[in-house]
Amino acid sequence: MAKPQMLRVLLCAVVMSIVKGQTYTVQDIADMQNQVIYELFDYFHFSQERQLTTAFEKLKQIENRLLQAERALGIDGSNAPAIPGFVRPTSLYRPDPQRRPEYNRRKPPQASRATAFPRELPVGRVTAAAPRPPTWAPPRRPKTTLAPEPPTRPPYAKTCAEIHQMGYLLPDIPMYSVDPLNDNDLVNVVCEKSRRLDGTQTVYTVIGHSALNEADKEILVSGHEDPGSFSLKPVYEANKKQLKAMTAASRSCEQFIAYRCQGSVLMQRSLETGTTYGWWETIDGDRVESWGGAPFNSSMCACGVRRRCVNPQRPCNCDANKQSSDEGFIMDKQYLPVSDVRLGDTGGKKEKGFLELGPLRCEGLA
Ligand SMILES: *[C@@H]1O[C@H](CO)[C@@H](O)[C@H](O)[C@H]1NC(C)=O
Repeated sequence: MAKPQMLRVLLCAVVMSIVKGQTYTVQDIADMQNQVIYELFDYFHFSQERQLTTAFEKLKQIENRLLQAERALGIDGSNAPAIPGFVRPTSLYRPDPQRRPEYNRRKPPQASRATAFPRELPVGRVTAAAPRPPTWAPPRRPKTTLAPEPPTRPPYAKTCAEIHQMGYLLPDIPMYSVDPLNDNDLVNVVCEKSRRLDGTQTVYTVIGHSALNEADKEILVSGHEDPGSFSLKPVYEANKKQLKAMTAASRSCEQFIAYRCQGSVLMQRSLETGTTYGWWETIDGDRVESWGGAPFNSSMCACGVRRRCVNPQRPCNCDANKQSSDEGFIMDKQYLPVSDVRLGDTGGKKEKGFLELGPLRCEGLA
């Protein structure tokens, strides 16, 4: 509501009334003048206060984000490095409602008005009429709502799906911190909005590990002849308990695994040990003799399930002992992520392989 217009209307009303020679007393005009002054004061004060409130809300948002960033970096307010000359605010500043002046000053006490403008002094056609109801009512003031107190601790989610559910997932911002055990031990993850195989939208939590390297994803396996003599122990960006909490809180999880082989077998069994040459290990360190895309511990690769491997009699493409590859997703979320990948049969001069292990990707709400 534009108050200057109101003031203009009010002033016009006063002038018009005087011109028409209506029944106004000095007291009436003084009242109106007072009203104009109060309205002007209120108008400027109120707009200033609104601007301040928005500014404080913005400051609060910035400070909340700083707090989150500090937590993510592991520096807390208490052990933050000292910056010379920087005084850390003890608490978030918010406007003090007590600072507001009294708004009900529109009706000053009768006594003081009476002395300032004695009733005896008439202007225009003076009547003994009882005071008329005001022709102009002050506009209703919208209530100033102060920003709510910030929570003592920002809400943390176990997974990106939970961040999304809370409405905190921002477009174009991939990095988030999750707190899977709700113990303030934060894990940095990448949140990815993408589609499931059936085409429906979902939110993935992506947790990386030490064997991921964008520039050179594949890991050379060479010079390891005995079954499982090569070992890849990826170090995840979360501890075991946190990983278990994240997979448990998700609807489904997956981890991509691929082996590009040159004369190196995968699920073929060694005559000496009876084990397969290659396997992966669960989060608890249990051996699983199967590859991505095949049923858990089935001694098969994806191609073996439909008997479509390079050699249809063998469980994996690599077991043809030529140059090929086996790949697929491990989807048994209670066993994920992969804690080790063991390979062998790369002792010969022309034998080698390239291993790729993707990040742990979990989606949805359990
Ligand atoms: C997978 O099967 C082998 C036997 O073929 C067994 O020794 C092993 O414990 C199984 N792994 C798991 C995780 O159940």
